[in-house]
Amino acid sequence: MNDRVVVIVGATGGIGSHLSHLLAAAGARLVLAGRSSEKLTQLQELLPPGAIAVPTDIRSPEQCHHLMDRAIAEFGHVDVLVNAAGAGVMKQFNKIEPADLDHMLEVNLKGSFYAAQAATNVMKDRKTGHICNVIGILGKHSMAMASAYCAAKFGVVGWSKCMADEVRRFGIKVTLFYFGGVDTPFWDGVSLKVDRSKMLSPETAAKAIMFALSVEPQAVPLEINIQPESHLFF
Ligand SMILES: NC(=O)c1ccc[n+]([C@@H]2O[C@H](COP(=O)([O-])OP(=O)(O)OC[C@H]3O[C@@H](n4cnc5c(N)ncnc54)[C@H](OP(=O)(O)O)[C@@H]3O)[C@@H](O)[C@H]2O)c1
Repeated sequence: MNDRVVVIVGATGGIGSHLSHLLAAAGARLVLAGRSSEKLTQLQELLPPGAIAVPTDIRSPEQCHHLMDRAIAEFGHVDVLVNAAGAGVMKQFNKIEPADLDHMLEVNLKGSFYAAQAATNVMKDRKTGHICNVIGILGKHSMAMASAYCAAKFGVVGWSKCMADEVRRFGIKVTLFYFGGVDTPFWDGVSLKVDRSKMLSPETAAKAIMFALSVEPQAVPLEINIQPESHLFF
């Protein structure tokens, strides 16, 4: 991982912050992104010196391009984008408001798309790169109360696979992560009864992403699927 430049959107989240610590310990040069500058500064202070923080709302394509520009200004290039930003709305299908659906599509579907578009744009010329999309198992399986979330996450799988087909000729790898429930602040805002003690730990999710980033150059981990034993989707 030494000296690789890794942009993490959602760096301050449960998965993103654990990953930031693992990557920093492995010698990566980090670009931390999320909306809240306060949360970014808090994370930055816990990491070894060198990581930069770039407040970014991924719903804005301009801010995603600015994020990559800042990474290049600081480190010269971008090796990896980890798309680990997102939010959840879990409600009965008939209770989903237009604003709920917009929120899921804006952040989870379009935001991650814009971040990947900005990243691949700067990776193409160097003919190397890696996009890690933290999608979740609800990108390939259905669950009651998750219609708006699934609408976005199934969509992420769709555009990710199309993107992968296009960017492979530029040496850019794409890995899709299908984690089951991970015990993070994601669930604080979700009005659904869940047993967080049975979920995966954010360390497990972060280690899986580390694995994908550490394989030999000729290997491409296309998909990593990890589920908690209590809630298996095959
Ligand atoms: N937790 C799970 O059970 C689970 C399972 C599978 C997949 N996932 C997916 O994994 C990803 C990370 O989840 P998590 O559990 O780590 O969530 P989390 O702890 O709630 O963190 C979410 C992160 O996304 C950032 N974020 C939210 N909206 C953003 C926006 N518009 N622009 C930029 N950053 C934004 C947040 O920072 P700010 O609020 O400061 O912007 C925060 O850093 C999400 O895509 C989620 O859907 C989660």
